Order: sequence, then structure tokens, then C-alpha cells
Amino acid sequence: MSALFVPLIIAIDGPAAAGKGTLARRLAQHFGLPHLDTGLLYRAVARRVIDAGHSPTDAEAAAMAARTLRAEDIRRGDLRGPPVDEAASLVASVPAVRAALLAFQRDFARAGGAVLDGRDIGTVIFPEATAKLFVTASVAERGRRRWAELRARGVAADRDAITAEVQARDAADGARAAAPMVPAEDAMVLDTTELDAEAAFARALELVGAKLAALGRAP
Ligand code: DC
Repeated sequence: MSALFVPLIIAIDGPAAAGKGTLARRLAQHFGLPHLDTGLLYRAVARRVIDAGHSPTDAEAAAMAARTLRAEDIRRGDLRGPPVDEAASLVASVPAVRAALLAFQRDFARAGGAVLDGRDIGTVIFPEATAKLFVTASVAERGRRRWAELRARGVAADRDAITAEVQARDAADGARAAAPMVPAEDAMVLDTTELDAEAAFARALELVGAKLAALGRAP
């Protein structure tokens, strides 16, 4: 590898159920990069706190769970849906939890590049990312998507209640003091309200491609 090699890092941030995960996976496949869903780290911390019988508002317990997180914790099958959704947002507001998860996220991408999706990738984890997308959609559409996702997994849920939960989680993630969810100044905003997964991917490729061209990098 040349000393001048700068790995391709694509940062994808945005609120819950905006389509970040699907988009990140497809971009990673397209560019031949590994993908890290950083929300899984916070979800795994929340799961460990709950399993140990602590409250997700217990900052000490959350910090300890984050410091001792193992790779297999993020491969568990029970990290999505309530009560982990809300608990993940709560543990994510603890600065010591975020600090404990920082090195893992940076190491994941440093050597060979990566696509990472989360809330603070372009602002905190990789402010120097090659391309940054802030993926969003209307709250009604995101609520509908989360509700449909739950239904597909056989979880009965009330659509209005799910939409309200998504909205409350975004408000908490955006208002917290530690690494709040905000678009990086140089992020390209992609609103997927009217786009299906295919159209969102096509638009993301255009945006990332234009950024690479502006930097004089081959796609
Ligand atoms: O993307 P997700 O819904 O799986 O994320 C779960 C929670 O983790 C979400 O409420 C906010 C938090 N999170 C975060 O604070 N920073 C990240 N980089 C990723 C997720």
C-alpha cells in the first residue's frame, strides 16, 4: 500500500428508519468496502444493561457494558425492537459509553476504508470522511417503515404509537449534549420520503460519485 493511500470512508448519518442501513449495505457492496452499522454497538450495550438487570438510565452500568463489549454481543438476534430501541437511545447519551466505542469504530475503517452508518459518523467519528450523506425522510414515512418492518417480523404494533416512538427517539438523539444527531456542515442531504430503496441508492451513488469526482478520486 502506498504511503499516500487514503482509505475511502463513507459516512451515513440520519434519524431512525430513514433507510440508512439498506443504503449503507448497498454502497459498501458497490465500492467493495466493509460496512459497520454503528447503531448495533449502542443496541448491544443497551441489551447487556437490560440483561444484567440494570436500568438503561444507569450511566455507570452502561459505561461498564460498553467498556467490556465483545464482538459476539453485536451479532445477537435480539437487538431490534422494543425495549432495546429506547434503551439504546438512552445509553447513547452517556459520554463514557460513546468514548468507549470510539476506537472500535475508527479502527474498523482506518486500514482499508469502510461505509459506516449512525448519527455522529460525519461529525465525530470521521470528520475527515471522503463523502458524507445525511439520510432523512418525513416522520410519518419513517414511522410507517418501522411499523412495516415490525409487522414483517411478526410483531403486532400500532402505527401511530410506533411513529410517536420514532419521533421521540429522534428528539432525544438530536437534543443530547454528547455527539447529537446533526448533519455535518459538509454532508449531502438525501431525503428518501418519496424514494424506494432502488431510487435512494441511485441518488446516493450520484452524490458520492460527484464528491469523488470533485476530489479527483476514481470511484
Ligand atoms: O440506528 P439505530 O436505530 O440502530 O440506533 C440505535 C440508537 O443508537 C439510536 O437511538 C441512537 C444511537 N446511535 C448513536 O447515538 N450514534 C450512532 N453512531 C449510532 C446510533
